[in-house]
Amino acid sequence: MNDNEARQWAQKVWNKIEAKISAECDRIGSQVPYIARNGRYEDKMATDPYWWTNGFWAGILWLLYHDTGAEKYMTAARGVEDRLDECLTGFTGLHHDVGFMWLHTAVLDYRLTKRQRSLERAFHAAAILAGRYNPRGRFIRAWNGDKTGWMIIDCMMNLALLYWASEETGDPRFKYIAMEHADTALKYLVRDDGSCNHIGVMSLKDRELLDAPAGQGYAPGSSWTRGQAWGLYGFAISAAHTKDEPEYKEYLSASKRIAHYFVSSAASYGYIPPIDFRAPKEPALKDSSAGVIAACGLLQLADLLGKEEQDFYIGAATQMLKALEETCCDWNPERDSIVQEGACAYHCKSDEHRVPLIYADYFFIEAVHRLRHPEFRVW
Ligand code: GLY
Repeated sequence: MNDNEARQWAQKVWNKIEAKISAECDRIGSQVPYIARNGRYEDKMATDPYWWTNGFWAGILWLLYHDTGAEKYMTAARGVEDRLDECLTGFTGLHHDVGFMWLHTAVLDYRLTKRQRSLERAFHAAAILAGRYNPRGRFIRAWNGDKTGWMIIDCMMNLALLYWASEETGDPRFKYIAMEHADTALKYLVRDDGSCNHIGVMSLKDRELLDAPAGQGYAPGSSWTRGQAWGLYGFAISAAHTKDEPEYKEYLSASKRIAHYFVSSAASYGYIPPIDFRAPKEPALKDSSAGVIAACGLLQLADLLGKEEQDFYIGAATQMLKALEETCCDWNPERDSIVQEGACAYHCKSDEHRVPLIYADYFFIEAVHRLRHPEFRVW
């Protein structure tokens, strides 16, 4: 698919997205969806307010608001943002994923409406993320408890909150922390062949890698597909925010390397990614969320490249989105969730395989929205 065909395809799919999300918004409002079961979401804020995915529904609503201007999306998204205040106040349950939680709520609110309260919340979240930086190991620590030296590839996505804070305040410290983390992730999590470790366990005394456990993938040394997608998109985001820095070329080439590995690996699965590219062929477990995240990363990469390179990345992104749309999407407005066949992790409870995940919907919608509004930025 060339650029024009991709945009025509996006327009058709967007009409279906709008019908589906409009109906969901009327049913769900400011409840916070995570996994849909039998076509219905439950409110994750009611059981786990700190859960890392609790901002994605608001992100969907803001993308719909940006496109349609319909007030009901803004009202529901703000309801989620208000509810997340409990976590900013409670604090101790917060983690590296505050970027996912407040970029799609407060930052998008501020970007679209200039609301002062949202700006304050977004700065608060950025300060919390910056506070997780380990200056000896030069990384942002993952999770809490005894995982003191742990860094993970997923966190590349949270750096967008730090880049945003520096751009908004003119204070480069947030960006410096983001770049230090990106440099450490590039050195220890991205492998020579473009695949990525999920986790790096770092020495607490200096910048040294002690171990790289399997994390959400199949085994140490395997290739958890969603982690590869986080790396692909995350390094492209870092490149987008560091165009004037010497590191720009390194981030760009890391993202391209992961992209080439991802696209060639996904091709042999008909562009519907498995949970782990290096897991046994049976059981054949898919993770649609990895495909939609990678598609967003490929579109971000295309933005950074000249015309002669762009077509490859836009083509690969739309090939992946089209394959997922044709085989994994539920467009019935009576049922919650669009993208089916997601997986939380390789080794998780069996009822967390083959499920619709809110972030798969979010990234699918972000990709289609981006094809229609190339000028609009979330990250
Ligand atoms: N950031 C956690 C995950 O991708 O499951």
